[in-house]
Amino acid sequence: MTLATTEEQLTGTAAVRFPAGFRWGAATASYQIEGAAADDGRTPSIWDTFARTPGKVFEGHSGDVACEHYFRYRDDVALMKRLGLGTYRFSVAWPRIKPDGSGPVNSRGLDFYDRLVDELLDKGIDPMVTLYHWDLPQVLEDRGGWTNRDTAYYLADLATATIARLGDRVRTWTTLNEPWCSAFLGYGSGVHAPGRQDPQATFEAVHHLMLGHGLAARALRAGGAREVSLTLNLTDVRPLTPADPHDQAAARLIDGLQNRLFLDPALRGRYPQDMLALFERFGAAAVIQAGDESLIAAPIDLLGVNYYQPALVRAQVGAHSGQAHPGSEGVEFVTQSAPVTAMDWPVDPTGLSDLLLRLAADYPGVPLMVTENGAAYTDVVEGDRVADDERIAYLDGHLRAAHAAIEGGADLRGYLAWSLLDNYEWGYGYGKRFGLVHVDYATQRRLPKDSAHWYAEVIGRNGLT
Ligand code: NOJ
Repeated sequence: MTLATTEEQLTGTAAVRFPAGFRWGAATASYQIEGAAADDGRTPSIWDTFARTPGKVFEGHSGDVACEHYFRYRDDVALMKRLGLGTYRFSVAWPRIKPDGSGPVNSRGLDFYDRLVDELLDKGIDPMVTLYHWDLPQVLEDRGGWTNRDTAYYLADLATATIARLGDRVRTWTTLNEPWCSAFLGYGSGVHAPGRQDPQATFEAVHHLMLGHGLAARALRAGGAREVSLTLNLTDVRPLTPADPHDQAAARLIDGLQNRLFLDPALRGRYPQDMLALFERFGAAAVIQAGDESLIAAPIDLLGVNYYQPALVRAQVGAHSGQAHPGSEGVEFVTQSAPVTAMDWPVDPTGLSDLLLRLAADYPGVPLMVTENGAAYTDVVEGDRVADDERIAYLDGHLRAAHAAIEGGADLRGYLAWSLLDNYEWGYGYGKRFGLVHVDYATQRRLPKDSAHWYAEVIGRNGLT
């Protein structure tokens, strides 16, 4: 009798088992956890500047101290080991490794990641390195940031320097994390660093980020990377009235801006026509040079999917979703009738299964990994316990959805929870907690929440009961 049958008999529901070799883990990002903002030669990033700009971040919070992971990484890796994580996804801070953005390598900055990688390997945890998770050196922003084509080439230089030091031990590399956010929140709505509000700059940033991805992917390959990936924040976009052609067009437009604008150049070697029209409309088309699209389409071995919520949209004359979506005038984002997290994001796991199946159908042949999924809730510490049942329910629902997508044919290789620790949630500062592990920022005490214990059991049995 198999274990599955036993559980089925006990609970009346079939147990959910993931494929053998499924990669389980958690993710973080440098600025959100490291602290040590001025240590060992690190220079300011755009987020240091942004956080210091009055009114930009909740209560003026910054990543100066964050979770002090820079100093506490050994304890944090020990914690990962206790949770049974097989993979740990983290990012390197560009201004630690190249304090001048484009200049010489600061070996003291690389030393930290060297120690971290050794510590992870010593505990049997596979390191997965993201090159760019939003902390652009401020000196590069001063020269135009992602609106400057040079930045794409500097990202490739960062890739070369980082893999030269860590490539003997790191198997999986990611070029960018969520370029949509870097471009549309950084240069469109301005709610993220560098805080610009300029549609032309937004589309220029899109292209230079994607060019940077392609160039960095090649540099990683040349440096011997065994697995090269790109992580996108993708969304299942749904028309409010599926039969209404106007709502369909609205959904198609938002799907273009959120998904196809990044997926198509990376995986098909060309921008979609409707998105090229937006580059034209905002005066940004000139940045796309002959040959760029084939550079962007450098082969990747894995597509990272960050999924949190679906989008429900409808056509509405006069509506504008805000500068966050230059080009999306006439589209209204409709409030969904679902429970929400502390971010006010609707909880709907069907968006994840639909998205994974759509990727498998429209972009076949690319293995997928959920590189982020999770939820912020208003956690309460009671003694030595955080009973975060809502987070467990969120994760459980999304893991079932991921499993359903596998059953439906999606080639999903792994799942990484966001996040290992409570951390700096960008414009929300420390006000939103996404961690499996609670962090008391006054004492830096780590306290695994009930969800961490639950997740350890999921990993241990490679599935859900
Ligand atoms: C996406 C980002 O990659 C990460 O940095 C952020 O904290 C989470 N989503 C939650 O918003």
